Amino acid sequence: MKDHTVSLIVAIASNHVIGKDNDLIWFLPKDLKYFKDTTAGHHVIMGRKNYFSIPEKFRPLPGRTNIVVTRQKDIVQDEGVVVVSSVEEGIKYALNAGDKEPFVIGGGQIYNYSLANELIDRMYITHVHKDYEGDTFFPHFDENKWLEISSEHVDPDHRHETSFSYAVYDRQ
Ligand SMILES: NC(=O)c1ccc[n+]([C@@H]2O[C@H](COP(=O)([O-])OP(=O)(O)OC[C@H]3O[C@@H](n4cnc5c(N)ncnc54)[C@H](OP(=O)(O)O)[C@@H]3O)[C@@H](O)[C@H]2O)c1
Repeated sequence: MKDHTVSLIVAIASNHVIGKDNDLIWFLPKDLKYFKDTTAGHHVIMGRKNYFSIPEKFRPLPGRTNIVVTRQKDIVQDEGVVVVSSVEEGIKYALNAGDKEPFVIGGGQIYNYSLANELIDRMYITHVHKDYEGDTFFPHFDENKWLEISSEHVDPDHRHETSFSYAVYDRQ
């Protein structure tokens, strides 16, 4: 039995879109809070584009160790941010620091790489029940290889333009 879980967290539109013009597309405050609560206290591993897409006043993401994956040297100078040259190196750093559940938080290239290389044990997927136009996609994953262990539906309201659901999948 492994003593740790490497997780991924993402919000995906019905047509698998996750971003457009290096930004998020929808505004779903309950999902932002879910992301914050789920990743609080953990290491969060992200691609350089995702990191710089976070508004300057909100980065590094507070209450979490931010790890940025890039092939460039010296691109991130922000205090407290850990810069690594591969997703594997980021995961290793987090586990060595004693984190039992580091999170891969995107974007598209980093999700693709992590799934293709079977680095992920658990996925927290917010399924946004609507199609959106975008330029960045979450890869289609083999549903036979993943077991849904929980799911919670959220109805739309005056602050949430569409319904969505929080699902968690474990690798089989
Ligand atoms: N819906 C969601 O939950 C969600 C979550 C996160 C992000 N997003 C969206 O995703 C989009 C950004 O995704 P993206 O695919 O454009 O970029 P990304 O994955 O965030 O970052 C890509 C960068 O990461 C580095 N990188 C990628 N693979 C690497 C590897 N194997 N080894 C070393 N470095 C590597 C490279 O940085 P260098 O070029 O510096 O070498 C590359 O340019 C945005 O629209 C964002 O809003 C959505």
